[in-house]
Amino acid sequence: MKIVLLGYGKMGKMIEAIALERGHTIACTVSTNKLSMMETEAFTTADVAIDFSTPTSVVHNIHTCFAKNIPVVVGTTGWNNELATITDQCNQQQQALLHASNFSIGVNVFFAINKKLAQLMQPYPSYNISMQEVHHLQKLDAPSGTGISLANDILKNNNNYNDWVLLENKNSNTQIPIEALRKPDVVGFHSITYNSPIDNITISHDAHTRQGFAQGAVIAAEWLVGKKGVFTMNDVLGL
Ligand SMILES: NC(=O)c1ccc[n+]([C@@H]2O[C@H](COP(=O)([O-])OP(=O)(O)OC[C@H]3O[C@@H](n4cnc5c(N)ncnc54)[C@H](O)[C@@H]3O)[C@@H](O)[C@H]2O)c1
Repeated sequence: MKIVLLGYGKMGKMIEAIALERGHTIACTVSTNKLSMMETEAFTTADVAIDFSTPTSVVHNIHTCFAKNIPVVVGTTGWNNELATITDQCNQQQQALLHASNFSIGVNVFFAINKKLAQLMQPYPSYNISMQEVHHLQKLDAPSGTGISLANDILKNNNNYNDWVLLENKNSNTQIPIEALRKPDVVGFHSITYNSPIDNITISHDAHTRQGFAQGAVIAAEWLVGKKGVFTMNDVLGL
Protein backbone atom coordinates (compact mmCIF):
# COMPACT_ATOMS: atom_id res chain seq x y z
CA MET A 1 0.00 0.00 0.00
CA LYS A 2 1.03 3.61 -0.58
CA ILE A 3 0.40 5.38 2.73
CA VAL A 4 0.07 9.10 3.46
CA LEU A 5 1.10 10.06 6.98
CA LEU A 6 -0.91 13.02 8.29
CA GLY A 7 1.18 14.13 11.24
CA TYR A 8 4.85 13.19 11.36
CA GLY A 9 5.62 13.48 15.06
CA LYS A 10 6.27 10.77 17.63
CA MET A 11 3.52 8.49 16.28
CA GLY A 12 3.92 9.32 12.59
CA LYS A 13 7.61 8.35 12.65
CA MET A 14 6.91 5.07 14.45
CA ILE A 15 4.09 4.22 12.02
CA GLU A 16 6.46 4.89 9.11
CA ALA A 17 8.99 2.38 10.49
CA ILE A 18 6.37 -0.33 11.02
CA ALA A 19 4.71 0.30 7.64
CA LEU A 20 8.07 -0.10 5.85
CA GLU A 21 8.78 -3.30 7.82
CA ARG A 22 5.42 -4.67 6.63
CA GLY A 23 6.30 -3.99 2.98
CA HIS A 24 4.35 -0.74 2.43
CA THR A 25 5.64 2.52 1.02
CA ILE A 26 5.16 6.07 2.33
CA ALA A 27 3.60 8.23 -0.42
CA CYS A 28 4.23 11.44 1.53
CA THR A 29 4.25 12.90 5.02
CA VAL A 30 2.29 15.99 6.10
CA SER A 31 3.26 18.07 9.12
CA THR A 32 2.96 21.70 10.25
CA ASN A 33 5.68 22.95 7.93
CA LYS A 34 4.69 20.66 5.01
CA LEU A 35 0.92 21.19 4.67
CA SER A 36 1.27 21.83 0.91
CA MET A 37 2.04 18.10 0.48
CA MET A 38 -1.75 17.61 0.56
CA GLU A 39 -1.96 19.19 -2.90
CA THR A 40 0.60 16.87 -4.53
CA GLU A 41 -0.02 13.89 -6.81
CA ALA A 42 1.76 11.66 -4.30
CA PHE A 43 -0.99 12.48 -1.80
CA THR A 44 -3.89 12.14 -4.25
CA THR A 45 -2.80 8.72 -5.52
CA ALA A 46 -2.23 7.15 -2.08
CA ASP A 47 -4.16 4.00 -1.10
CA VAL A 48 -4.80 5.10 2.47
CA ALA A 49 -4.01 7.91 4.93
CA ILE A 50 -3.13 7.56 8.61
CA ASP A 51 -3.73 10.66 10.77
CA PHE A 52 -1.86 11.14 14.03
CA SER A 53 -1.78 14.94 14.00
CA THR A 54 -3.47 17.39 16.37
CA PRO A 55 -7.01 17.91 17.69
CA THR A 56 -7.25 21.20 15.76
CA SER A 57 -6.12 19.82 12.39
CA VAL A 58 -7.69 16.37 12.28
CA VAL A 59 -11.19 17.34 11.10
CA HIS A 60 -9.84 19.36 8.16
CA ASN A 61 -7.55 16.44 7.30
CA ILE A 62 -10.46 13.98 7.32
CA HIS A 63 -12.48 16.26 5.00
CA THR A 64 -9.51 16.45 2.61
CA CYS A 65 -9.26 12.64 2.51
CA PHE A 66 -13.01 12.34 1.85
CA ALA A 67 -12.75 14.89 -0.98
CA LYS A 68 -9.89 12.92 -2.57
CA ASN A 69 -11.47 9.46 -2.04
CA ILE A 70 -8.66 8.31 0.27
CA PRO A 71 -9.67 5.94 3.10
CA VAL A 72 -8.46 7.42 6.37
CA VAL A 73 -7.39 5.83 9.66
CA VAL A 74 -7.53 8.33 12.53
CA GLY A 75 -5.61 7.95 15.77
CA THR A 76 -5.65 11.63 16.73
CA THR A 77 -7.73 12.23 19.85
CA GLY A 78 -9.58 15.28 21.18
CA TRP A 79 -12.25 15.64 18.43
CA ASN A 80 -15.10 13.58 19.98
CA ASN A 81 -17.58 16.46 19.59
CA GLU A 82 -17.24 16.25 15.81
CA LEU A 83 -17.57 12.47 15.51
CA ALA A 84 -21.34 12.31 14.89
CA THR A 85 -21.16 14.92 12.09
CA ILE A 86 -18.12 13.29 10.48
CA THR A 87 -19.81 9.87 10.66
CA ASP A 88 -22.84 11.23 8.75
CA GLN A 89 -20.61 12.91 6.17
CA CYS A 90 -18.56 9.74 5.68
CA ASN A 91 -21.68 7.64 5.08
CA GLN A 92 -23.35 10.23 2.81
CA GLN A 93 -20.21 10.64 0.70
CA GLN A 94 -19.55 6.85 0.68
CA GLN A 95 -16.06 7.27 2.08
CA ALA A 96 -14.06 5.13 4.54
CA LEU A 97 -13.03 6.14 8.06
CA LEU A 98 -11.59 4.03 10.85
CA HIS A 99 -11.11 5.80 14.16
CA ALA A 100 -9.87 4.55 17.53
CA SER A 101 -8.92 6.35 20.70
CA ASN A 102 -6.36 3.59 21.15
CA PHE A 103 -5.00 1.18 18.53
CA SER A 104 -3.14 -1.24 20.79
CA ILE A 105 -4.45 -4.78 21.03
CA GLY A 106 -3.90 -4.81 24.82
CA VAL A 107 -6.02 -1.70 25.33
CA ASN A 108 -8.80 -3.07 23.15
CA VAL A 109 -8.88 -6.23 25.30
CA PHE A 110 -8.84 -3.91 28.34
CA PHE A 111 -11.89 -2.10 26.87
CA ALA A 112 -13.73 -5.46 26.76
CA ILE A 113 -12.77 -6.24 30.41
CA ASN A 114 -13.91 -2.75 31.46
CA LYS A 115 -17.35 -3.24 29.87
CA LYS A 116 -17.77 -6.66 31.51
CA LEU A 117 -16.73 -5.34 34.94
CA ALA A 118 -19.17 -2.42 34.61
CA GLN A 119 -21.99 -4.89 33.93
CA LEU A 120 -20.97 -7.13 36.86
CA MET A 121 -20.86 -4.16 39.26
CA GLN A 122 -24.22 -2.72 38.17
CA PRO A 123 -26.16 -4.40 41.08
CA TYR A 124 -23.71 -2.98 43.68
CA PRO A 125 -24.07 0.82 43.90
CA SER A 126 -22.12 0.86 47.20
CA TYR A 127 -18.97 0.71 45.03
CA ASN A 128 -17.84 4.18 43.92
CA ILE A 129 -16.14 4.31 40.54
CA SER A 130 -13.11 6.49 39.89
CA MET A 131 -10.62 6.62 37.04
CA GLN A 132 -7.05 7.76 36.63
CA GLU A 133 -5.03 8.34 33.47
CA VAL A 134 -1.38 9.37 33.26
CA HIS A 135 0.35 10.60 30.09
CA HIS A 136 3.49 12.45 29.02
CA LEU A 137 3.74 16.23 29.45
CA GLN A 138 3.23 17.04 25.73
CA LYS A 139 -0.25 15.51 25.55
CA LEU A 140 -2.72 18.21 24.43
CA ASP A 141 -6.09 16.74 25.51
CA ALA A 142 -7.33 15.78 29.00
CA PRO A 143 -8.85 13.39 29.76
CA SER A 144 -7.23 11.23 27.11
CA GLY A 145 -9.27 9.77 24.26
CA THR A 146 -8.74 6.33 25.80
CA GLY A 147 -9.98 7.62 29.16
CA ILE A 148 -13.12 9.00 27.51
CA SER A 149 -13.75 5.68 25.72
CA LEU A 150 -13.39 3.79 29.01
CA ALA A 151 -15.73 6.19 30.84
CA ASN A 152 -18.35 6.09 28.07
CA ASP A 153 -18.25 2.29 28.07
CA ILE A 154 -18.91 2.27 31.83
CA LEU A 155 -21.87 4.66 31.37
CA LYS A 156 -23.34 2.39 28.67
CA ASN A 157 -23.02 -0.70 30.89
CA ASN A 158 -23.76 0.56 34.42
CA ASN A 159 -26.68 2.92 35.08
CA ASN A 160 -25.51 3.94 38.57
CA TYR A 161 -23.68 6.79 36.79
CA ASN A 162 -24.88 9.27 34.15
CA ASP A 163 -21.77 11.32 33.30
CA TRP A 164 -17.98 11.55 33.59
CA VAL A 165 -16.02 14.66 34.57
CA LEU A 166 -12.45 15.66 35.31
CA LEU A 167 -11.88 15.07 39.03
CA GLU A 168 -11.59 18.80 39.77
CA ASN A 169 -15.09 19.44 38.30
CA LYS A 170 -16.96 16.69 40.14
CA ASN A 171 -20.11 17.93 41.89
CA SER A 172 -22.42 14.88 41.96
CA ASN A 173 -22.25 11.23 43.02
CA THR A 174 -23.57 10.15 39.63
CA GLN A 175 -20.47 11.50 37.85
CA ILE A 176 -17.43 9.28 37.31
CA PRO A 177 -14.38 11.38 38.27
CA ILE A 178 -11.33 11.12 35.99
CA GLU A 179 -8.00 12.21 37.41
CA ALA A 180 -5.81 13.21 34.44
CA LEU A 181 -2.15 13.45 35.41
CA ARG A 182 0.75 14.54 33.20
CA LYS A 183 4.26 13.30 34.03
CA PRO A 184 7.53 13.07 32.07
CA ASP A 185 7.91 10.10 29.70
CA VAL A 186 4.70 8.22 30.54
CA VAL A 187 3.40 6.51 27.36
CA GLY A 188 -0.11 5.87 28.71
CA PHE A 189 -1.56 4.51 31.96
CA HIS A 190 -5.28 3.99 32.68
CA SER A 191 -6.95 2.56 35.77
CA ILE A 192 -10.52 2.10 36.94
CA THR A 193 -11.26 1.54 40.61
CA TYR A 194 -14.45 0.36 42.28
CA ASN A 195 -14.16 1.37 45.93
CA SER A 196 -16.46 0.30 48.77
CA PRO A 197 -16.06 0.48 52.57
CA ILE A 198 -15.28 -3.25 52.42
CA ASP A 199 -12.85 -3.59 49.53
CA ASN A 200 -11.47 -2.21 46.24
CA ILE A 201 -11.34 -3.64 42.75
CA THR A 202 -8.87 -1.98 40.37
CA ILE A 203 -8.12 -2.83 36.75
CA SER A 204 -5.33 -1.06 34.90
CA HIS A 205 -3.43 -0.93 31.62
CA ASP A 206 0.12 0.39 31.39
CA ALA A 207 1.66 0.92 27.93
CA HIS A 208 5.44 0.40 27.87
CA THR A 209 6.00 1.76 24.34
CA ARG A 210 4.11 3.50 21.52
CA GLN A 211 4.83 0.52 19.29
CA GLY A 212 1.47 -1.12 20.04
CA PHE A 213 -0.45 1.97 18.86
CA ALA A 214 1.62 2.23 15.67
CA GLN A 215 1.36 -1.45 14.78
CA GLY A 216 -2.41 -1.42 15.37
CA ALA A 217 -2.81 1.65 13.13
CA VAL A 218 -0.97 -0.03 10.22
CA ILE A 219 -2.99 -3.24 10.65
CA ALA A 220 -6.16 -1.08 10.67
CA ALA A 221 -5.07 0.65 7.43
CA GLU A 222 -4.46 -2.72 5.74
CA TRP A 223 -7.96 -3.79 6.86
CA LEU A 224 -9.71 -0.56 5.76
CA VAL A 225 -8.60 -0.44 2.11
CA GLY A 226 -11.50 -1.47 -0.16
CA LYS A 227 -14.22 -0.86 2.47
CA LYS A 228 -16.78 1.96 2.78
CA GLY A 229 -18.27 3.28 6.01
CA VAL A 230 -17.18 4.12 9.56
CA PHE A 231 -15.29 1.54 11.59
CA THR A 232 -13.38 1.11 14.85
CA MET A 233 -10.78 -1.36 16.15
CA ASN A 234 -13.65 -3.60 17.29
CA ASP A 235 -14.33 -4.29 13.61
CA VAL A 236 -10.66 -5.02 12.89
CA LEU A 237 -10.19 -7.32 15.90
CA GLY A 238 -13.66 -8.86 15.83
CA LEU A 239 -14.29 -7.92 19.46
N1 LIG B 1 -5.23 6.35 18.99
C1 LIG B 1 -4.05 5.98 19.51
O1 LIG B 1 -3.76 4.78 19.68
C2 LIG B 1 -3.05 7.05 19.89
C3 LIG B 1 -1.79 6.71 20.42
C4 LIG B 1 -0.87 7.74 20.64
C5 LIG B 1 -1.22 9.06 20.35
N2 LIG B 1 -2.44 9.33 19.87
C6 LIG B 1 -2.83 10.70 19.48
O2 LIG B 1 -2.20 10.98 18.22
C7 LIG B 1 -1.97 12.39 18.09
C8 LIG B 1 -0.50 12.64 17.73
O3 LIG B 1 0.33 12.17 18.76
P1 LIG B 1 1.94 12.36 18.68
O4 LIG B 1 2.42 11.88 20.00
O5 LIG B 1 2.50 11.77 17.44
O6 LIG B 1 2.03 13.97 18.60
P2 LIG B 1 3.24 14.87 18.08
O7 LIG B 1 3.05 16.21 18.69
O8 LIG B 1 4.56 14.16 18.29
O9 LIG B 1 2.99 14.97 16.49
C9 LIG B 1 1.94 15.73 15.92
C10 LIG B 1 2.27 15.98 14.46
O10 LIG B 1 1.16 16.61 13.83
C11 LIG B 1 1.68 17.55 12.91
N3 LIG B 1 0.67 18.50 12.48
C12 LIG B 1 0.28 19.67 13.06
N4 LIG B 1 -0.68 20.24 12.31
C13 LIG B 1 -0.92 19.42 11.25
C14 LIG B 1 -1.79 19.44 10.13
N5 LIG B 1 -2.64 20.47 9.94
N6 LIG B 1 -1.78 18.40 9.27
C15 LIG B 1 -0.95 17.36 9.45
N7 LIG B 1 -0.06 17.29 10.48
C16 LIG B 1 -0.06 18.31 11.37
C17 LIG B 1 2.87 18.16 13.64
O11 LIG B 1 3.75 18.83 12.73
C18 LIG B 1 3.49 16.88 14.22
O12 LIG B 1 4.32 16.28 13.24
C19 LIG B 1 -2.43 13.00 19.43
O13 LIG B 1 -3.76 13.44 19.28
C20 LIG B 1 -2.38 11.82 20.40
O14 LIG B 1 -3.30 11.96 21.49
C21 LIG B 1 -3.36 8.38 19.63
